[in-house]
Amino acid sequence: MDRIIVKGGVPLEGKVRISGSKNSALPILAATLLAEGTSRIENLPFLKDTKTILKILNSLGAKIKLNKNSVEINTDTVKNFTAPYDLVCLMRGSICLLGPLLTRFKKAVVSLPGGCVIGPRPIDLHLKGLRDLGAEIKIKKGYIEAKTKKLKGRRIFLGGAFGSSVLATANVMMAATLAEGETLIEFAACEPEIVDLANFLNKMGAKIEGTGSHLLRIKGVRRLRGKNYKIISDRIEAGTYLVAGLITKGEISIENINPSHLEAVIDKAEESGAEINLKKRSLQVKNSNGLRAVNLVTFPYPGFPTDMQAQFMALLCLAQGTSVITERIFPKRFMHIGELNRMGADITIEGDSAILKGDRTFVGTKVMASDLRASAALVLAALAARGETEISRVYHLDRGYERLVEKLTELGADIKRIN
Ligand code: EPU
Repeated sequence: MDRIIVKGGVPLEGKVRISGSKNSALPILAATLLAEGTSRIENLPFLKDTKTILKILNSLGAKIKLNKNSVEINTDTVKNFTAPYDLVCLMRGSICLLGPLLTRFKKAVVSLPGGCVIGPRPIDLHLKGLRDLGAEIKIKKGYIEAKTKKLKGRRIFLGGAFGSSVLATANVMMAATLAEGETLIEFAACEPEIVDLANFLNKMGAKIEGTGSHLLRIKGVRRLRGKNYKIISDRIEAGTYLVAGLITKGEISIENINPSHLEAVIDKAEESGAEINLKKRSLQVKNSNGLRAVNLVTFPYPGFPTDMQAQFMALLCLAQGTSVITERIFPKRFMHIGELNRMGADITIEGDSAILKGDRTFVGTKVMASDLRASAALVLAALAARGETEISRVYHLDRGYERLVEKLTELGADIKRIN
C-alpha cells in the first residue's frame, strides 16, 4: 500500500490551480442517465470517486470516452438498472444514481451505501422525497428496490434532523425534472454543487427555478438532451490549499476558483489573522504574523463546511489560544483527532464539540489516514511538523484530491509518495 512521506517546515510559495469539484461531478455524471444523446463534461476532476461512478455507468451499459479532465457519455445504450454492491460500497455518493435510474427505467435497484467513518449516513430523506413523487420503495437484502408507474410532481418537504441534505436534494431534483407536473422542494440544499447540477439539468432542457435557495420549483418536461457542460471548481480543495498556505506560514495564490463559494472559510481564516487578497477567479493568502484561536460551527452552505472542519482543526492547533470547533452536520466526524494528538495537538471532545488548546507544535511521526478530509488534515499537519511524517492508507486522498503530491511539490513542499 502507498504511503506519503512529508518533511515539514517548508513555507509554501507559488501558484496552485484548483481542479473541478468532486461533489458536483458525481451527481452530474449520474444525471447523464436522464438525457438522450451524448453529454460532454469538462473540468472533470480525475479522482478515484469520479472513476468509480464512471465504472458504475459503464457496468450499466453507458458508452464512455474518458479524456482525463473531460468525458463524453452516452447513456442511450443503458439497459441495466441495478447498481451493484461491489461498486456502490466504494463510495457513498453512488446513492445519487437512485433518482436517475428510477426516472429512466421506472425501477431501480441500488445497493445500500452502508456506514461510514464520519458517522451514520441515513438515506431516509432520499426515500421520502422519491416516495412523495410516487415511488414504491422496499429495502431487501441490503438493496434499495424502487419502482413506480409514473412520477408525479408535488410539494415535498426535505428537511431532516441536521437540516437539508445535499444528495437527497440532488436525487429528488433529478427525478422531478421528468416527472408529470410541478414539484416544489422545500428545505432544499443550497450548496454550489446543487446549483451546478441544476444548471447542467437546465442546459439539457429541465425547468428548475430557485437554485441556491431553500425552495426549488421544478416544472416537469418530457425529455432532456445531452449537452456540453463545465463543472465548477472544487471549493473544498481550494480551502485545503488555503490552509496549507497558512499552516506553513507561506504565501500562495489559489487559482481557478469562485471565491464567493469560500466565504465562510475566508471569513474564519481572516478572523484568525490570515491576510487574504481576493480577485475574481483567484485569491492570495499569507500568514506573516501568526494566527489567533477562533471558534467555528459547521453548517450547511453558506455556513462553514463540514468538509473543511478537519483541515481547520489542524490549523487552529498552532494558533494562539483555545478554539472550539462544533460539528453540526456529522457530529461524530472527529476521527482525525486521535492522530493529530499523536502529532502533538491537545484536543479533547465534548459532545459534538472539539476543544483545541493552541500554540502547539506538530512533530512528525507515523500516522494513519481514516477518511478523505481527515487524511487531508494529516497532510496539512505534516507540512507544518518538525521532522518527517509517514502517512499510510493514503488511498482516501485519491478519492478527492487530484495530483495532491504533485501540486504540493510545485508549491515547494518536501513530499513524496512511496509504494
Ligand atoms: N441526512 C439525513 N437523512 C438523509 C440524508 C442525510 O438525516 O436521508 C443527514 C446526514 O446524516 C447529515 C446531514 O443530513 O447529518 C447532511 O448530509 P447530506 O445528505 O447533505 O450529505 P451527503 O449528501 O450524503 C454530501 C457530500 C459530503 C458532504 C455532505 C455535507 C457528496 C458526494 N458528498 O454528502 O462530502 O460532507 O454533503 O455537506 O456530495 C466529502 O466530500 O468528504 C464528503 C463527505
